[in-house]
Amino acid sequence: MRLAHPGLADPEYYVAGLPADYVTARYGIDPARISKLGSAENPFGASQKAVEAVTAAMGRLHLYPTWTAQPLREKIAATYGYEPEQVICGSGETEVISLVIRAFSEPGGEVLMPAPCFPIYHLFAEAEGRQAVLSHRATDRATMALDLDAYIEAMRPTTQIVFLTNPHSPSGTWLEEADVRRVVEAAPSALVVLDEAYVHYSGTPGYIGLAREYDNLIVLRTFSKAFGLAGLRIGFGVAQRPIINALLAVKPTWNMGQLQIAGGVAALDDDAHVSRTVEAIVAGRTYVADRFESLERFEMIGGSRSNFFLVRILDPETDSTKVFNGLLERGVIVKDGSVSFRGLEDRFLRSDVNLPEHMDRLVAALADLP
Ligand SMILES: Cc1ncc(COP(=O)(O)O)c(C=O)c1O
Repeated sequence: MRLAHPGLADPEYYVAGLPADYVTARYGIDPARISKLGSAENPFGASQKAVEAVTAAMGRLHLYPTWTAQPLREKIAATYGYEPEQVICGSGETEVISLVIRAFSEPGGEVLMPAPCFPIYHLFAEAEGRQAVLSHRATDRATMALDLDAYIEAMRPTTQIVFLTNPHSPSGTWLEEADVRRVVEAAPSALVVLDEAYVHYSGTPGYIGLAREYDNLIVLRTFSKAFGLAGLRIGFGVAQRPIINALLAVKPTWNMGQLQIAGGVAALDDDAHVSRTVEAIVAGRTYVADRFESLERFEMIGGSRSNFFLVRILDPETDSTKVFNGLLERGVIVKDGSVSFRGLEDRFLRSDVNLPEHMDRLVAALADLP
């Protein structure tokens, strides 16, 4: 039998946040009483403008889309001040991450990331036979923020790709522009990937413009979060043309369907949906921080600029898997740190920020655990 390459001898897969149906089927809990806080989705659902555009695009289902998703590329370019040729679209940002790994690192090549981080970075790197280098020292254990000096020290002349996530996942902590520039400038022989999946919740426009200045930077974004289109699968990257040209060569040719293209174009005009979502998340962060004050065995790690936050388990008698399962039985889905993030151990959970009723249920369920 022809075996897959050694990196796939014992493949590891992404552990996604559980769906609500699972909790209903397993514990018989009414879906209306489930708080889904493990996938960082939009509490208000999809952009209605996108839904209408997707519906209208049904009439084009028999037609191949342009292989570069040209209308969406043009819309993204116009929105963020780029040329269409400086944009690549993917079936979710996740697909763009996989293309970056394939195009900008070689088999055995080093791909650097902080530990913990979005697991897709190391899962794809390893699945492609690259060496995922997780820098544990780059995370300050008290604040869970990135220790930039330690991260820059972890870069080597042989590092081929350097990941930065801003706001970071799973901590939600934020890097200032000067910090991002330091990393990009410290890595002239690597491609720096700045993942801005959650940038809307930072209350800033982010650093998407930096890709105009640096020829070793790509900035990635998703439509899954503030636009509420996780189920449609749209993400993109902006970078200088040689970077995009290389990515296009490894892209599955028609990776974006008619519906994704139409939905993405419309979503970019739905500022009202994005603003409403961001306002609710910002208010939700303050709300849940206040509610956590009542808990003795759990502590919220402050400083998140995203739509999730880390919970530290203070009670030595329990661990993240026991707490995760206890919450599930009470209809609350979060992420178990020890299962969902390499390098996060069993003292942490990650929960979404969501509407007050869901934050109340999370806090009540935590308080109710034996
Ligand atoms: C840090 C980070 N980047 C990228 C993504 C991927 O988003 P998409 O749904 O566009 O693939 C996620 C999704 O959870 C994420 O947490």
